[in-house]
Amino acid sequence: MHSGTEAMNHNGSHDTSSSEPVGVIYGDVTTSEFKCAVNAPLERMEYVQVFHETCGPVLCQATSVERHTNLSIDKAQKIANGEQVSIEEKVSATISVIGYRDERNIMQCPQTPVKAGETIHRADEDLIRKVVGLKSDQKVGAYIGLLNGHDIPIYLDINTLVQKHLSVLSKTGGGKSYITGVIIEELMKHNVTTLIIDPHGEYATLAKAAKQSPDMERFGVKPHAYADRILEFSPDTKINTSAQPLKFTLANLEAREILALANVKNVRQALPAVKRAIEALRSTKPSFTMKDLIKTLDADEELPAGNLLMELEYLQEIDIFADRGTKISEMIEKGKTTILNLRGSPADIAELVVNRLAMALFELRKTDHIPPMMMVVEEAHNYCPQQGATACSKIMRTIAAEGRKFGLGLTVITQRPAKVDKNVLSQCNTQVILKITNPNDLNAVTSSVEGLTKGMDEEIQRLPIGVALVTGGSLTMPLLVATRPRETLHGGESVKIIEDN
Ligand SMILES: Nc1ncnc2c1ncn2[C@@H]1O[C@H](COP(=O)(O)OP(=O)(O)OP(=O)(O)O)[C@@H](O)[C@H]1O
Ligand SMILES: [Mg+2]
Repeated sequence: MHSGTEAMNHNGSHDTSSSEPVGVIYGDVTTSEFKCAVNAPLERMEYVQVFHETCGPVLCQATSVERHTNLSIDKAQKIANGEQVSIEEKVSATISVIGYRDERNIMQCPQTPVKAGETIHRADEDLIRKVVGLKSDQKVGAYIGLLNGHDIPIYLDINTLVQKHLSVLSKTGGGKSYITGVIIEELMKHNVTTLIIDPHGEYATLAKAAKQSPDMERFGVKPHAYADRILEFSPDTKINTSAQPLKFTLANLEAREILALANVKNVRQALPAVKRAIEALRSTKPSFTMKDLIKTLDADEELPAGNLLMELEYLQEIDIFADRGTKISEMIEKGKTTILNLRGSPADIAELVVNRLAMALFELRKTDHIPPMMMVVEEAHNYCPQQGATACSKIMRTIAAEGRKFGLGLTVITQRPAKVDKNVLSQCNTQVILKITNPNDLNAVTSSVEGLTKGMDEEIQRLPIGVALVTGGSLTMPLLVATRPRETLHGGESVKIIEDN
């Protein structure tokens, strides 16, 4: 080790990398950061490498790139007036040290700084793969895209995704549904059973192939339709005509659930009457209809005043009850993706449907009556909000906390991370973060995600569409990933207000 001041003469003798040199280290050097005089195009967040005398090649990343010039305000004014002015400029980058793998393949950070005068190279792909610990096991990996700025495919371990839950977070229009579509395509390829809670009816297009696009070749993707893998159900098949009807058996619902559905103002007052009516009906027939229930209640002399009957008539019109409700075994099939299309369903109905279904999945997974599976919840802030509660808040918390024990994975998608129950969000071990600008949401994300390094919150605000910051799960460090194109049609296109020609 050197001590004191020492004059060193560098002539690039440590040029061991086959990759292009991009600059030379100058100024003060610490074990975690240094400056580099840049002499080739270098972008922020690009991976570079430097030779360390005892550790060998060390992986680093450019965290900022600055252009220093001698252009004064006076000279700038001259340019504005049309005069020729010569500008001297130097490009400097701040480089953050990531680390290296030692002989036992353990990630290490150098304990002494690299030397000023040392040449910085673009990182070799092998070094990136090795240090970042990227696996490309297609058998258990979901291919979500390429490492941003490189041609290195990024795979997420599917077992980790399902066992330890996933969150997909961004502002509205940030690309959540698009990348979730990519992940679901991968789940289908790997025969993972999946249920998608789809409030806007965006996912049925997974059945249709995307158009061929120029990007597909670079990412190694081909258009593909998954029609034979998809089941679609909806409580409202008048709107969602391609879906099979989802019906409840009224006789299986408890009085409290019926009242919750019916949006009755004074539940406590109405509860005894509904209980009485259900008991009376159950004792006479094995199944009964909403009409039967209304008739029985109407004949009840002790029925409290209120909007109960009117609300029940509204429920009857929505037509979600049948003599024989939909069985879970009809909805969930091993290796298939079931879309629960809730487009057009009122919020209270949607919550009840999600609650019933999620409870059934949890119970049936516990007893191994259905295969291990992933439940994908779009617009999760509506189903498990941080403030207040919905019909399904409790079961969502339970699945987030205990689902992993039983092989029931959860994917939480939201445009308002700050408004999702923290108990649910914090259980998501893999995070896919796209552009977020709202300070509360940004704060909710950066405070709950481990391993986000300095400056990452700024990075998240500036992410372009198509680039995701992926962290946790099977990855050893946060990575910027250029999302691969969809094989299937994306159903979440924004509606154009004015058509271009
Ligand atoms: N990786 C990508 N490549 C190409 N286009 C993309 C990509 N990601 C998103 N887009 C486009 O951006 C738009 C918004 O994407 P998407 O529907 O996924 O946003 P979102 O985050 O789900 O929005 P919302 O919160 O409103 O549901 C879409 O028109 C989609 O085509
Ligand atoms: Mg969306």
